[in-house]
Amino acid sequence: MKIGIIGTGRIGTGLAKRWTEAGHSLLLGSRDAGKAAGIAAEVGAQGGTYQQAVDFGEVIVLTTPWEATEETLRSLTGLAGKTLIETTNKLRDPRPETSTELIARWSNGAKVVKAFNTVFAPIIHTPPAERLAQVDVPMVGDHADAKALAAGLIRDVGFNPLDAGGLANARHVENLAAFIIALGYGEGLGTGLSYQFVRVTP
Ligand SMILES: NC(=O)c1ccc[n+]([C@@H]2O[C@H](COP(=O)([O-])OP(=O)(O)OC[C@H]3O[C@@H](n4cnc5c(N)ncnc54)[C@H](OP(=O)(O)O)[C@@H]3O)[C@@H](O)[C@H]2O)c1
Repeated sequence: MKIGIIGTGRIGTGLAKRWTEAGHSLLLGSRDAGKAAGIAAEVGAQGGTYQQAVDFGEVIVLTTPWEATEETLRSLTGLAGKTLIETTNKLRDPRPETSTELIARWSNGAKVVKAFNTVFAPIIHTPPAERLAQVDVPMVGDHADAKALAAGLIRDVGFNPLDAGGLANARHVENLAAFIIALGYGEGLGTGLSYQFVRVTP
Protein backbone atom coordinates (compact mmCIF):
# COMPACT_ATOMS: atom_id res chain seq x y z
CA MET A 1 0.00 0.00 0.00
CA LYS A 2 1.14 3.58 -0.62
CA ILE A 3 1.37 5.47 2.67
CA GLY A 4 2.13 9.18 3.10
CA ILE A 5 3.35 10.17 6.56
CA ILE A 6 3.10 13.79 7.74
CA GLY A 7 5.92 14.54 10.18
CA THR A 8 9.34 12.97 10.67
CA GLY A 9 9.44 12.77 14.48
CA ARG A 10 9.38 9.81 16.85
CA ILE A 11 6.01 8.37 15.82
CA GLY A 12 6.41 9.09 12.09
CA THR A 13 9.83 7.44 11.82
CA GLY A 14 8.84 4.49 14.00
CA LEU A 15 5.79 3.71 11.88
CA ALA A 16 7.84 4.22 8.72
CA LYS A 17 10.38 1.60 9.86
CA ARG A 18 7.74 -1.00 10.56
CA TRP A 19 5.73 -0.36 7.38
CA THR A 20 8.70 -0.42 5.01
CA GLU A 21 9.70 -3.76 6.61
CA ALA A 22 6.15 -4.99 5.92
CA GLY A 23 6.55 -4.14 2.24
CA HIS A 24 4.58 -0.89 1.97
CA SER A 25 5.70 2.09 -0.15
CA LEU A 26 6.20 5.18 1.94
CA LEU A 27 6.67 8.89 1.40
CA LEU A 28 7.79 10.63 4.55
CA GLY A 29 6.66 14.26 4.44
CA SER A 30 8.33 17.10 6.29
CA ARG A 31 8.20 20.88 6.51
CA ASP A 32 11.78 20.56 5.22
CA ALA A 33 11.87 18.20 2.24
CA GLY A 34 15.68 18.06 2.38
CA LYS A 35 15.58 16.81 5.96
CA ALA A 36 12.89 14.29 5.00
CA ALA A 37 15.02 12.86 2.21
CA GLY A 38 17.82 12.01 4.65
CA ILE A 39 15.52 10.51 7.29
CA ALA A 40 13.48 8.62 4.70
CA ALA A 41 16.58 7.08 3.12
CA GLU A 42 17.46 5.53 6.50
CA VAL A 43 14.18 3.61 6.55
CA GLY A 44 13.91 2.80 2.85
CA ALA A 45 11.25 5.41 2.09
CA GLN A 46 11.00 8.46 -0.15
CA GLY A 47 11.11 11.94 1.34
CA GLY A 48 9.15 15.03 0.40
CA THR A 49 6.80 17.72 1.58
CA TYR A 50 3.55 17.28 3.51
CA GLN A 51 1.55 17.93 0.33
CA GLN A 52 3.60 15.31 -1.54
CA ALA A 53 2.81 12.82 1.25
CA VAL A 54 -0.91 13.53 0.79
CA ASP A 55 -0.71 13.25 -2.99
CA PHE A 56 1.30 9.99 -2.77
CA GLY A 57 -0.62 8.12 -0.10
CA GLU A 58 -3.70 5.95 -0.39
CA VAL A 59 -3.54 6.26 3.38
CA ILE A 60 -2.22 9.40 5.09
CA VAL A 61 -0.80 9.28 8.61
CA LEU A 62 -0.73 12.48 10.64
CA THR A 63 2.02 12.64 13.30
CA THR A 64 2.30 16.36 14.06
CA PRO A 65 2.34 17.86 17.56
CA TRP A 66 -1.21 18.86 18.50
CA GLU A 67 -0.30 22.55 18.48
CA ALA A 68 0.75 22.38 14.79
CA THR A 69 -2.11 20.18 13.60
CA GLU A 70 -4.73 22.73 12.57
CA GLU A 71 -2.28 24.87 10.58
CA THR A 72 -0.83 21.77 8.92
CA LEU A 73 -4.19 20.35 7.86
CA ARG A 74 -5.52 23.68 6.63
CA SER A 75 -2.45 24.04 4.39
CA LEU A 76 -3.14 20.73 2.59
CA THR A 77 -5.42 19.86 -0.32
CA GLY A 78 -6.64 16.54 -1.67
CA LEU A 79 -7.50 14.79 1.60
CA ALA A 80 -11.17 14.30 0.70
CA GLY A 81 -12.11 10.63 0.56
CA LYS A 82 -8.69 9.39 1.73
CA THR A 83 -8.13 7.51 4.95
CA LEU A 84 -6.35 9.76 7.45
CA ILE A 85 -4.91 7.97 10.48
CA GLU A 86 -4.23 10.54 13.14
CA THR A 87 -1.98 9.83 16.14
CA THR A 88 -2.30 13.04 18.13
CA ASN A 89 -3.03 13.71 21.78
CA LYS A 90 -4.70 17.00 22.63
CA LEU A 91 -3.72 17.04 26.27
CA ARG A 92 -3.62 20.73 27.19
CA ASP A 93 -6.15 22.22 24.75
CA PRO A 94 -9.33 23.20 26.65
CA ARG A 95 -11.70 22.98 23.67
CA PRO A 96 -14.54 20.53 24.37
CA GLU A 97 -14.19 18.60 21.10
CA THR A 98 -11.77 15.70 20.88
CA SER A 99 -8.66 15.95 18.71
CA THR A 100 -10.27 13.58 16.23
CA GLU A 101 -13.47 15.58 15.90
CA LEU A 102 -11.43 18.73 15.24
CA ILE A 103 -9.17 16.91 12.78
CA ALA A 104 -12.22 15.61 10.91
CA ARG A 105 -13.42 19.23 10.64
CA TRP A 106 -10.03 20.55 9.45
CA SER A 107 -9.28 17.78 6.95
CA ASN A 108 -12.07 18.49 4.48
CA GLY A 109 -13.73 15.14 3.92
CA ALA A 110 -10.95 12.74 4.89
CA LYS A 111 -12.04 9.47 6.52
CA VAL A 112 -10.42 10.02 9.89
CA VAL A 113 -9.32 7.17 12.16
CA LYS A 114 -7.62 7.72 15.49
CA ALA A 115 -4.95 5.12 16.28
CA PHE A 116 -1.49 4.73 17.84
CA ASN A 117 -2.06 7.67 20.23
CA THR A 118 -1.94 5.28 23.20
CA VAL A 119 1.43 3.67 22.37
CA PHE A 120 4.75 5.18 23.40
CA ALA A 121 7.05 5.77 20.42
CA PRO A 122 9.92 3.61 21.78
CA ILE A 123 7.59 0.59 21.64
CA ILE A 124 6.89 1.26 17.95
CA HIS A 125 10.64 1.61 17.34
CA THR A 126 11.27 -1.77 18.99
CA PRO A 127 11.11 -4.55 16.37
CA PRO A 128 8.16 -6.88 17.07
CA ALA A 129 10.44 -9.87 17.70
CA GLU A 130 12.14 -7.98 20.55
CA ARG A 131 8.94 -6.96 22.37
CA LEU A 132 8.08 -8.72 25.61
CA ALA A 133 4.30 -8.67 25.15
CA GLN A 134 1.53 -8.00 22.67
CA VAL A 135 -0.06 -4.53 22.58
CA ASP A 136 -3.70 -3.64 21.89
CA VAL A 137 -4.20 -0.50 19.79
CA PRO A 138 -7.70 0.97 19.98
CA MET A 139 -8.90 2.72 16.84
CA VAL A 140 -11.98 4.89 16.46
CA GLY A 141 -13.65 6.31 13.39
CA ASP A 142 -16.94 6.52 11.57
CA HIS A 143 -15.86 4.84 8.30
CA ALA A 144 -15.72 1.03 8.29
CA ASP A 145 -13.51 0.86 5.18
CA ALA A 146 -10.99 3.29 6.68
CA LYS A 147 -10.92 1.32 9.93
CA ALA A 148 -10.33 -1.89 7.99
CA LEU A 149 -7.28 -0.29 6.33
CA ALA A 150 -6.06 1.00 9.69
CA ALA A 151 -6.50 -2.43 11.29
CA GLY A 152 -4.22 -4.00 8.68
CA LEU A 153 -1.60 -1.31 9.20
CA ILE A 154 -1.77 -1.76 12.99
CA ARG A 155 -1.12 -5.50 12.51
CA ASP A 156 1.81 -4.65 10.24
CA VAL A 157 3.42 -2.76 13.14
CA GLY A 158 3.03 -5.93 15.20
CA PHE A 159 0.10 -4.79 17.34
CA ASN A 160 -3.50 -5.98 17.82
CA PRO A 161 -6.12 -3.58 16.42
CA LEU A 162 -9.14 -3.08 18.68
CA ASP A 163 -12.19 -1.52 17.04
CA ALA A 164 -13.26 0.94 19.73
CA GLY A 165 -16.25 2.36 17.89
CA GLY A 166 -17.09 5.66 16.24
CA LEU A 167 -15.51 9.11 16.47
CA ALA A 168 -17.58 9.90 19.55
CA ASN A 169 -15.40 7.39 21.43
CA ALA A 170 -12.22 9.35 20.64
CA ARG A 171 -12.67 10.98 24.06
CA HIS A 172 -12.17 7.66 25.82
CA VAL A 173 -9.14 6.76 23.70
CA GLU A 174 -7.59 10.17 24.49
CA ASN A 175 -8.24 9.58 28.19
CA LEU A 176 -6.53 6.21 27.88
CA ALA A 177 -3.49 7.96 26.41
CA ALA A 178 -3.51 10.50 29.24
CA PHE A 179 -3.58 7.63 31.74
CA ILE A 180 -0.69 5.74 30.13
CA ILE A 181 1.33 8.99 29.95
CA ALA A 182 0.61 9.59 33.66
CA LEU A 183 1.81 6.09 34.47
CA GLY A 184 4.84 6.18 32.16
CA TYR A 185 6.14 9.63 33.08
CA GLY A 186 4.26 10.76 36.22
CA GLU A 187 4.54 7.47 38.11
CA GLY A 188 7.94 6.58 36.67
CA LEU A 189 6.91 3.30 35.01
CA GLY A 190 8.64 4.31 31.78
CA THR A 191 7.86 4.29 28.09
CA GLY A 192 8.10 0.52 27.73
CA LEU A 193 4.67 0.31 29.36
CA SER A 194 1.53 -0.58 27.42
CA TYR A 195 -1.59 -2.72 27.91
CA GLN A 196 -3.82 -5.48 26.56
CA PHE A 197 -7.52 -5.92 27.13
CA VAL A 198 -8.38 -9.40 28.34
CA ARG A 199 -11.62 -11.30 28.32
CA VAL A 200 -12.05 -12.72 31.80
CA THR A 201 -15.41 -14.47 31.45
CA PRO A 202 -16.90 -15.90 28.25
N1 LIG B 1 6.06 10.29 21.39
C1 LIG B 1 5.13 9.43 21.79
O1 LIG B 1 5.44 8.48 22.56
C2 LIG B 1 3.71 9.56 21.33
C3 LIG B 1 2.86 8.49 21.57
C4 LIG B 1 1.55 8.54 21.08
C5 LIG B 1 1.11 9.66 20.39
N2 LIG B 1 1.95 10.72 20.21
C6 LIG B 1 1.41 11.88 19.47
O2 LIG B 1 1.83 11.71 18.11
C7 LIG B 1 2.17 12.98 17.54
C8 LIG B 1 3.63 12.95 17.15
O3 LIG B 1 4.41 12.73 18.31
P1 LIG B 1 5.99 12.60 18.20
O4 LIG B 1 6.45 12.14 19.53
O5 LIG B 1 6.37 11.85 16.98
O6 LIG B 1 6.39 14.12 18.02
P2 LIG B 1 7.78 14.71 17.51
O7 LIG B 1 8.86 13.70 17.73
O8 LIG B 1 7.92 16.04 18.13
O9 LIG B 1 7.56 14.85 15.95
C9 LIG B 1 6.51 15.61 15.42
C10 LIG B 1 6.86 16.00 13.99
O10 LIG B 1 5.84 16.88 13.53
C11 LIG B 1 6.39 17.80 12.61
N3 LIG B 1 5.97 19.18 12.97
C12 LIG B 1 5.08 19.94 12.28
N4 LIG B 1 4.92 21.13 12.83
C13 LIG B 1 5.73 21.16 13.90
C14 LIG B 1 6.00 22.14 14.88
N5 LIG B 1 5.39 23.37 14.86
N6 LIG B 1 6.88 21.85 15.85
C15 LIG B 1 7.48 20.65 15.91
N7 LIG B 1 7.27 19.66 14.99
C16 LIG B 1 6.39 19.91 13.99
C17 LIG B 1 7.89 17.65 12.65
O11 LIG B 1 8.26 16.98 11.45
P3 LIG B 1 8.97 17.80 10.27
O12 LIG B 1 10.04 18.65 10.94
O13 LIG B 1 9.53 16.75 9.43
O14 LIG B 1 7.93 18.64 9.62
C18 LIG B 1 8.16 16.76 13.84
O15 LIG B 1 9.26 15.90 13.64
C19 LIG B 1 1.87 14.03 18.61
O16 LIG B 1 0.59 14.57 18.37
C20 LIG B 1 1.89 13.23 19.92
O17 LIG B 1 1.04 13.78 20.90
C21 LIG B 1 3.24 10.68 20.64
